[in-house]
Amino acid sequence: MTFNPLKEKGLPLEKQLRNWHQIVANPYKKQKVDCYTRTRQILMNGIEVEGWGFKHQFNRFMTDIDCDDRANVSRLGRIENQQQMTCNWLCPEDQSVLETTLGYEQVAVDLTAWLAQNEPDKYVKETFDFGLLEDFDHLYRYAQFAYMREGVEPCDIVQEQTDVIVGRPTQHHHNCNGLRLRNHYDKETASPQTKVNILTVLSGEQQTHNFYAEHGFMYGDHILRETYAEIKDVEEEHVTMYESLIDPSETMFEKLLLHEFTEVCNYYTCLEDEVDEKIKKYWEIFLDMEIGHLHIAAELFKKYEKRDPEEVIGSEIVIPCRFKSQKDYVQKVLEKEVNKRLAPDGKYYNSIDEIPNDWASYPVQERVAEISAPSENCINIVEFYHDRDIVEADEILKNKEVSLLEKGLQKKAVADNTVLPDKLKKMIKNHEQRKEEKEKII
Ligand SMILES: [Fe+2]
Ligand SMILES: [Fe+2]
Ligand SMILES: [Fe+2]
Ligand SMILES: [Fe+2]
Repeated sequence: MTFNPLKEKGLPLEKQLRNWHQIVANPYKKQKVDCYTRTRQILMNGIEVEGWGFKHQFNRFMTDIDCDDRANVSRLGRIENQQQMTCNWLCPEDQSVLETTLGYEQVAVDLTAWLAQNEPDKYVKETFDFGLLEDFDHLYRYAQFAYMREGVEPCDIVQEQTDVIVGRPTQHHHNCNGLRLRNHYDKETASPQTKVNILTVLSGEQQTHNFYAEHGFMYGDHILRETYAEIKDVEEEHVTMYESLIDPSETMFEKLLLHEFTEVCNYYTCLEDEVDEKIKKYWEIFLDMEIGHLHIAAELFKKYEKRDPEEVIGSEIVIPCRFKSQKDYVQKVLEKEVNKRLAPDGKYYNSIDEIPNDWASYPVQERVAEISAPSENCINIVEFYHDRDIVEADEILKNKEVSLLEKGLQKKAVADNTVLPDKLKKMIKNHEQRKEEKEKII
């Protein structure tokens, strides 16, 4: 049976204001939470931040709109704000910044992998695959610090659902802004699935950027602070990349409609998938609220644009993400595309050998890493802690790590402190020998 949110009643806006006790929920327990409950919580916070921010942009830019309608958009923004607090503050106080960070990158990897496999537009899918391998490498870099600083193993957070191993090296994620821009979809022909997929991942990436901006300084370790700065800058590029896929000629009313539809679709999926009964209740009420928002957006669209909302969002729900393990898919993309790079005009170089000497991203990479790349330093220092890097994957993938690094590393604009394949090989060998020695002592 299909679910058409425009045909559902939803909770009327005047009933959506909640009191402080309702807004501030009891947080989950970090030791007990299912990793995909945490990823839903992180993603929905990002969706709400975007939903809230958009209402403000709407009211700042719109001129020809009745006072009552403007006030209603402002009321919607307030409700998004309340929902955002509930979602974000489900996070417990004893979950460290680094632990939450691993959760953020798990969202990025498993969400983008799901989207890539459920994206009808081939070009958009290619962009998802490209972004996927960058967040995959972020997860690996942060996992080193989580181990070194807090003794946290990746499985404590990702619960063995997501592999942790080198991806496209972070030092190569820094690009000329012009190259990050992709070609946008055509709003007349793109499917609602494509529009919702992009807005979902964009919201997640934007919030990842914001989280690093607001929390990266909370550690005294300078290399870690620099790594947060470096990866935050990549998330900025990801925001640039994903937003450039959106047709800029969509009107603000059309965008309002798509924002509310995206919220409806995401809460609908959360409600279907949630295993935590208490948190499920929030997804249920928020879905009801978002259907109420969608009705308001649909009425405004009809009133000001004289068009049928179904022309934009269709007549049934779409599923933006089912959080589940994507190891097989990610590994496939990793092995095939770790050496892929951005090319002009929204194109790609399928291998490092295709990059011309005057590639616009080289000067950017050379400038930011002219002293060293923090994301490489973390692999250098983890050697003192663990003899080798912290990796979690099956033996077959683990055995491919050196060759993956070899394939993903550029020849040009490589930071001086880079852990090269030979060094990594030595670290791994050393670790194996020491492991045996340690076992003997025990
Ligand atoms: Fe919302
Ligand atoms: Fe990331
Ligand atoms: Fe990202
Ligand atoms: Fe909403």
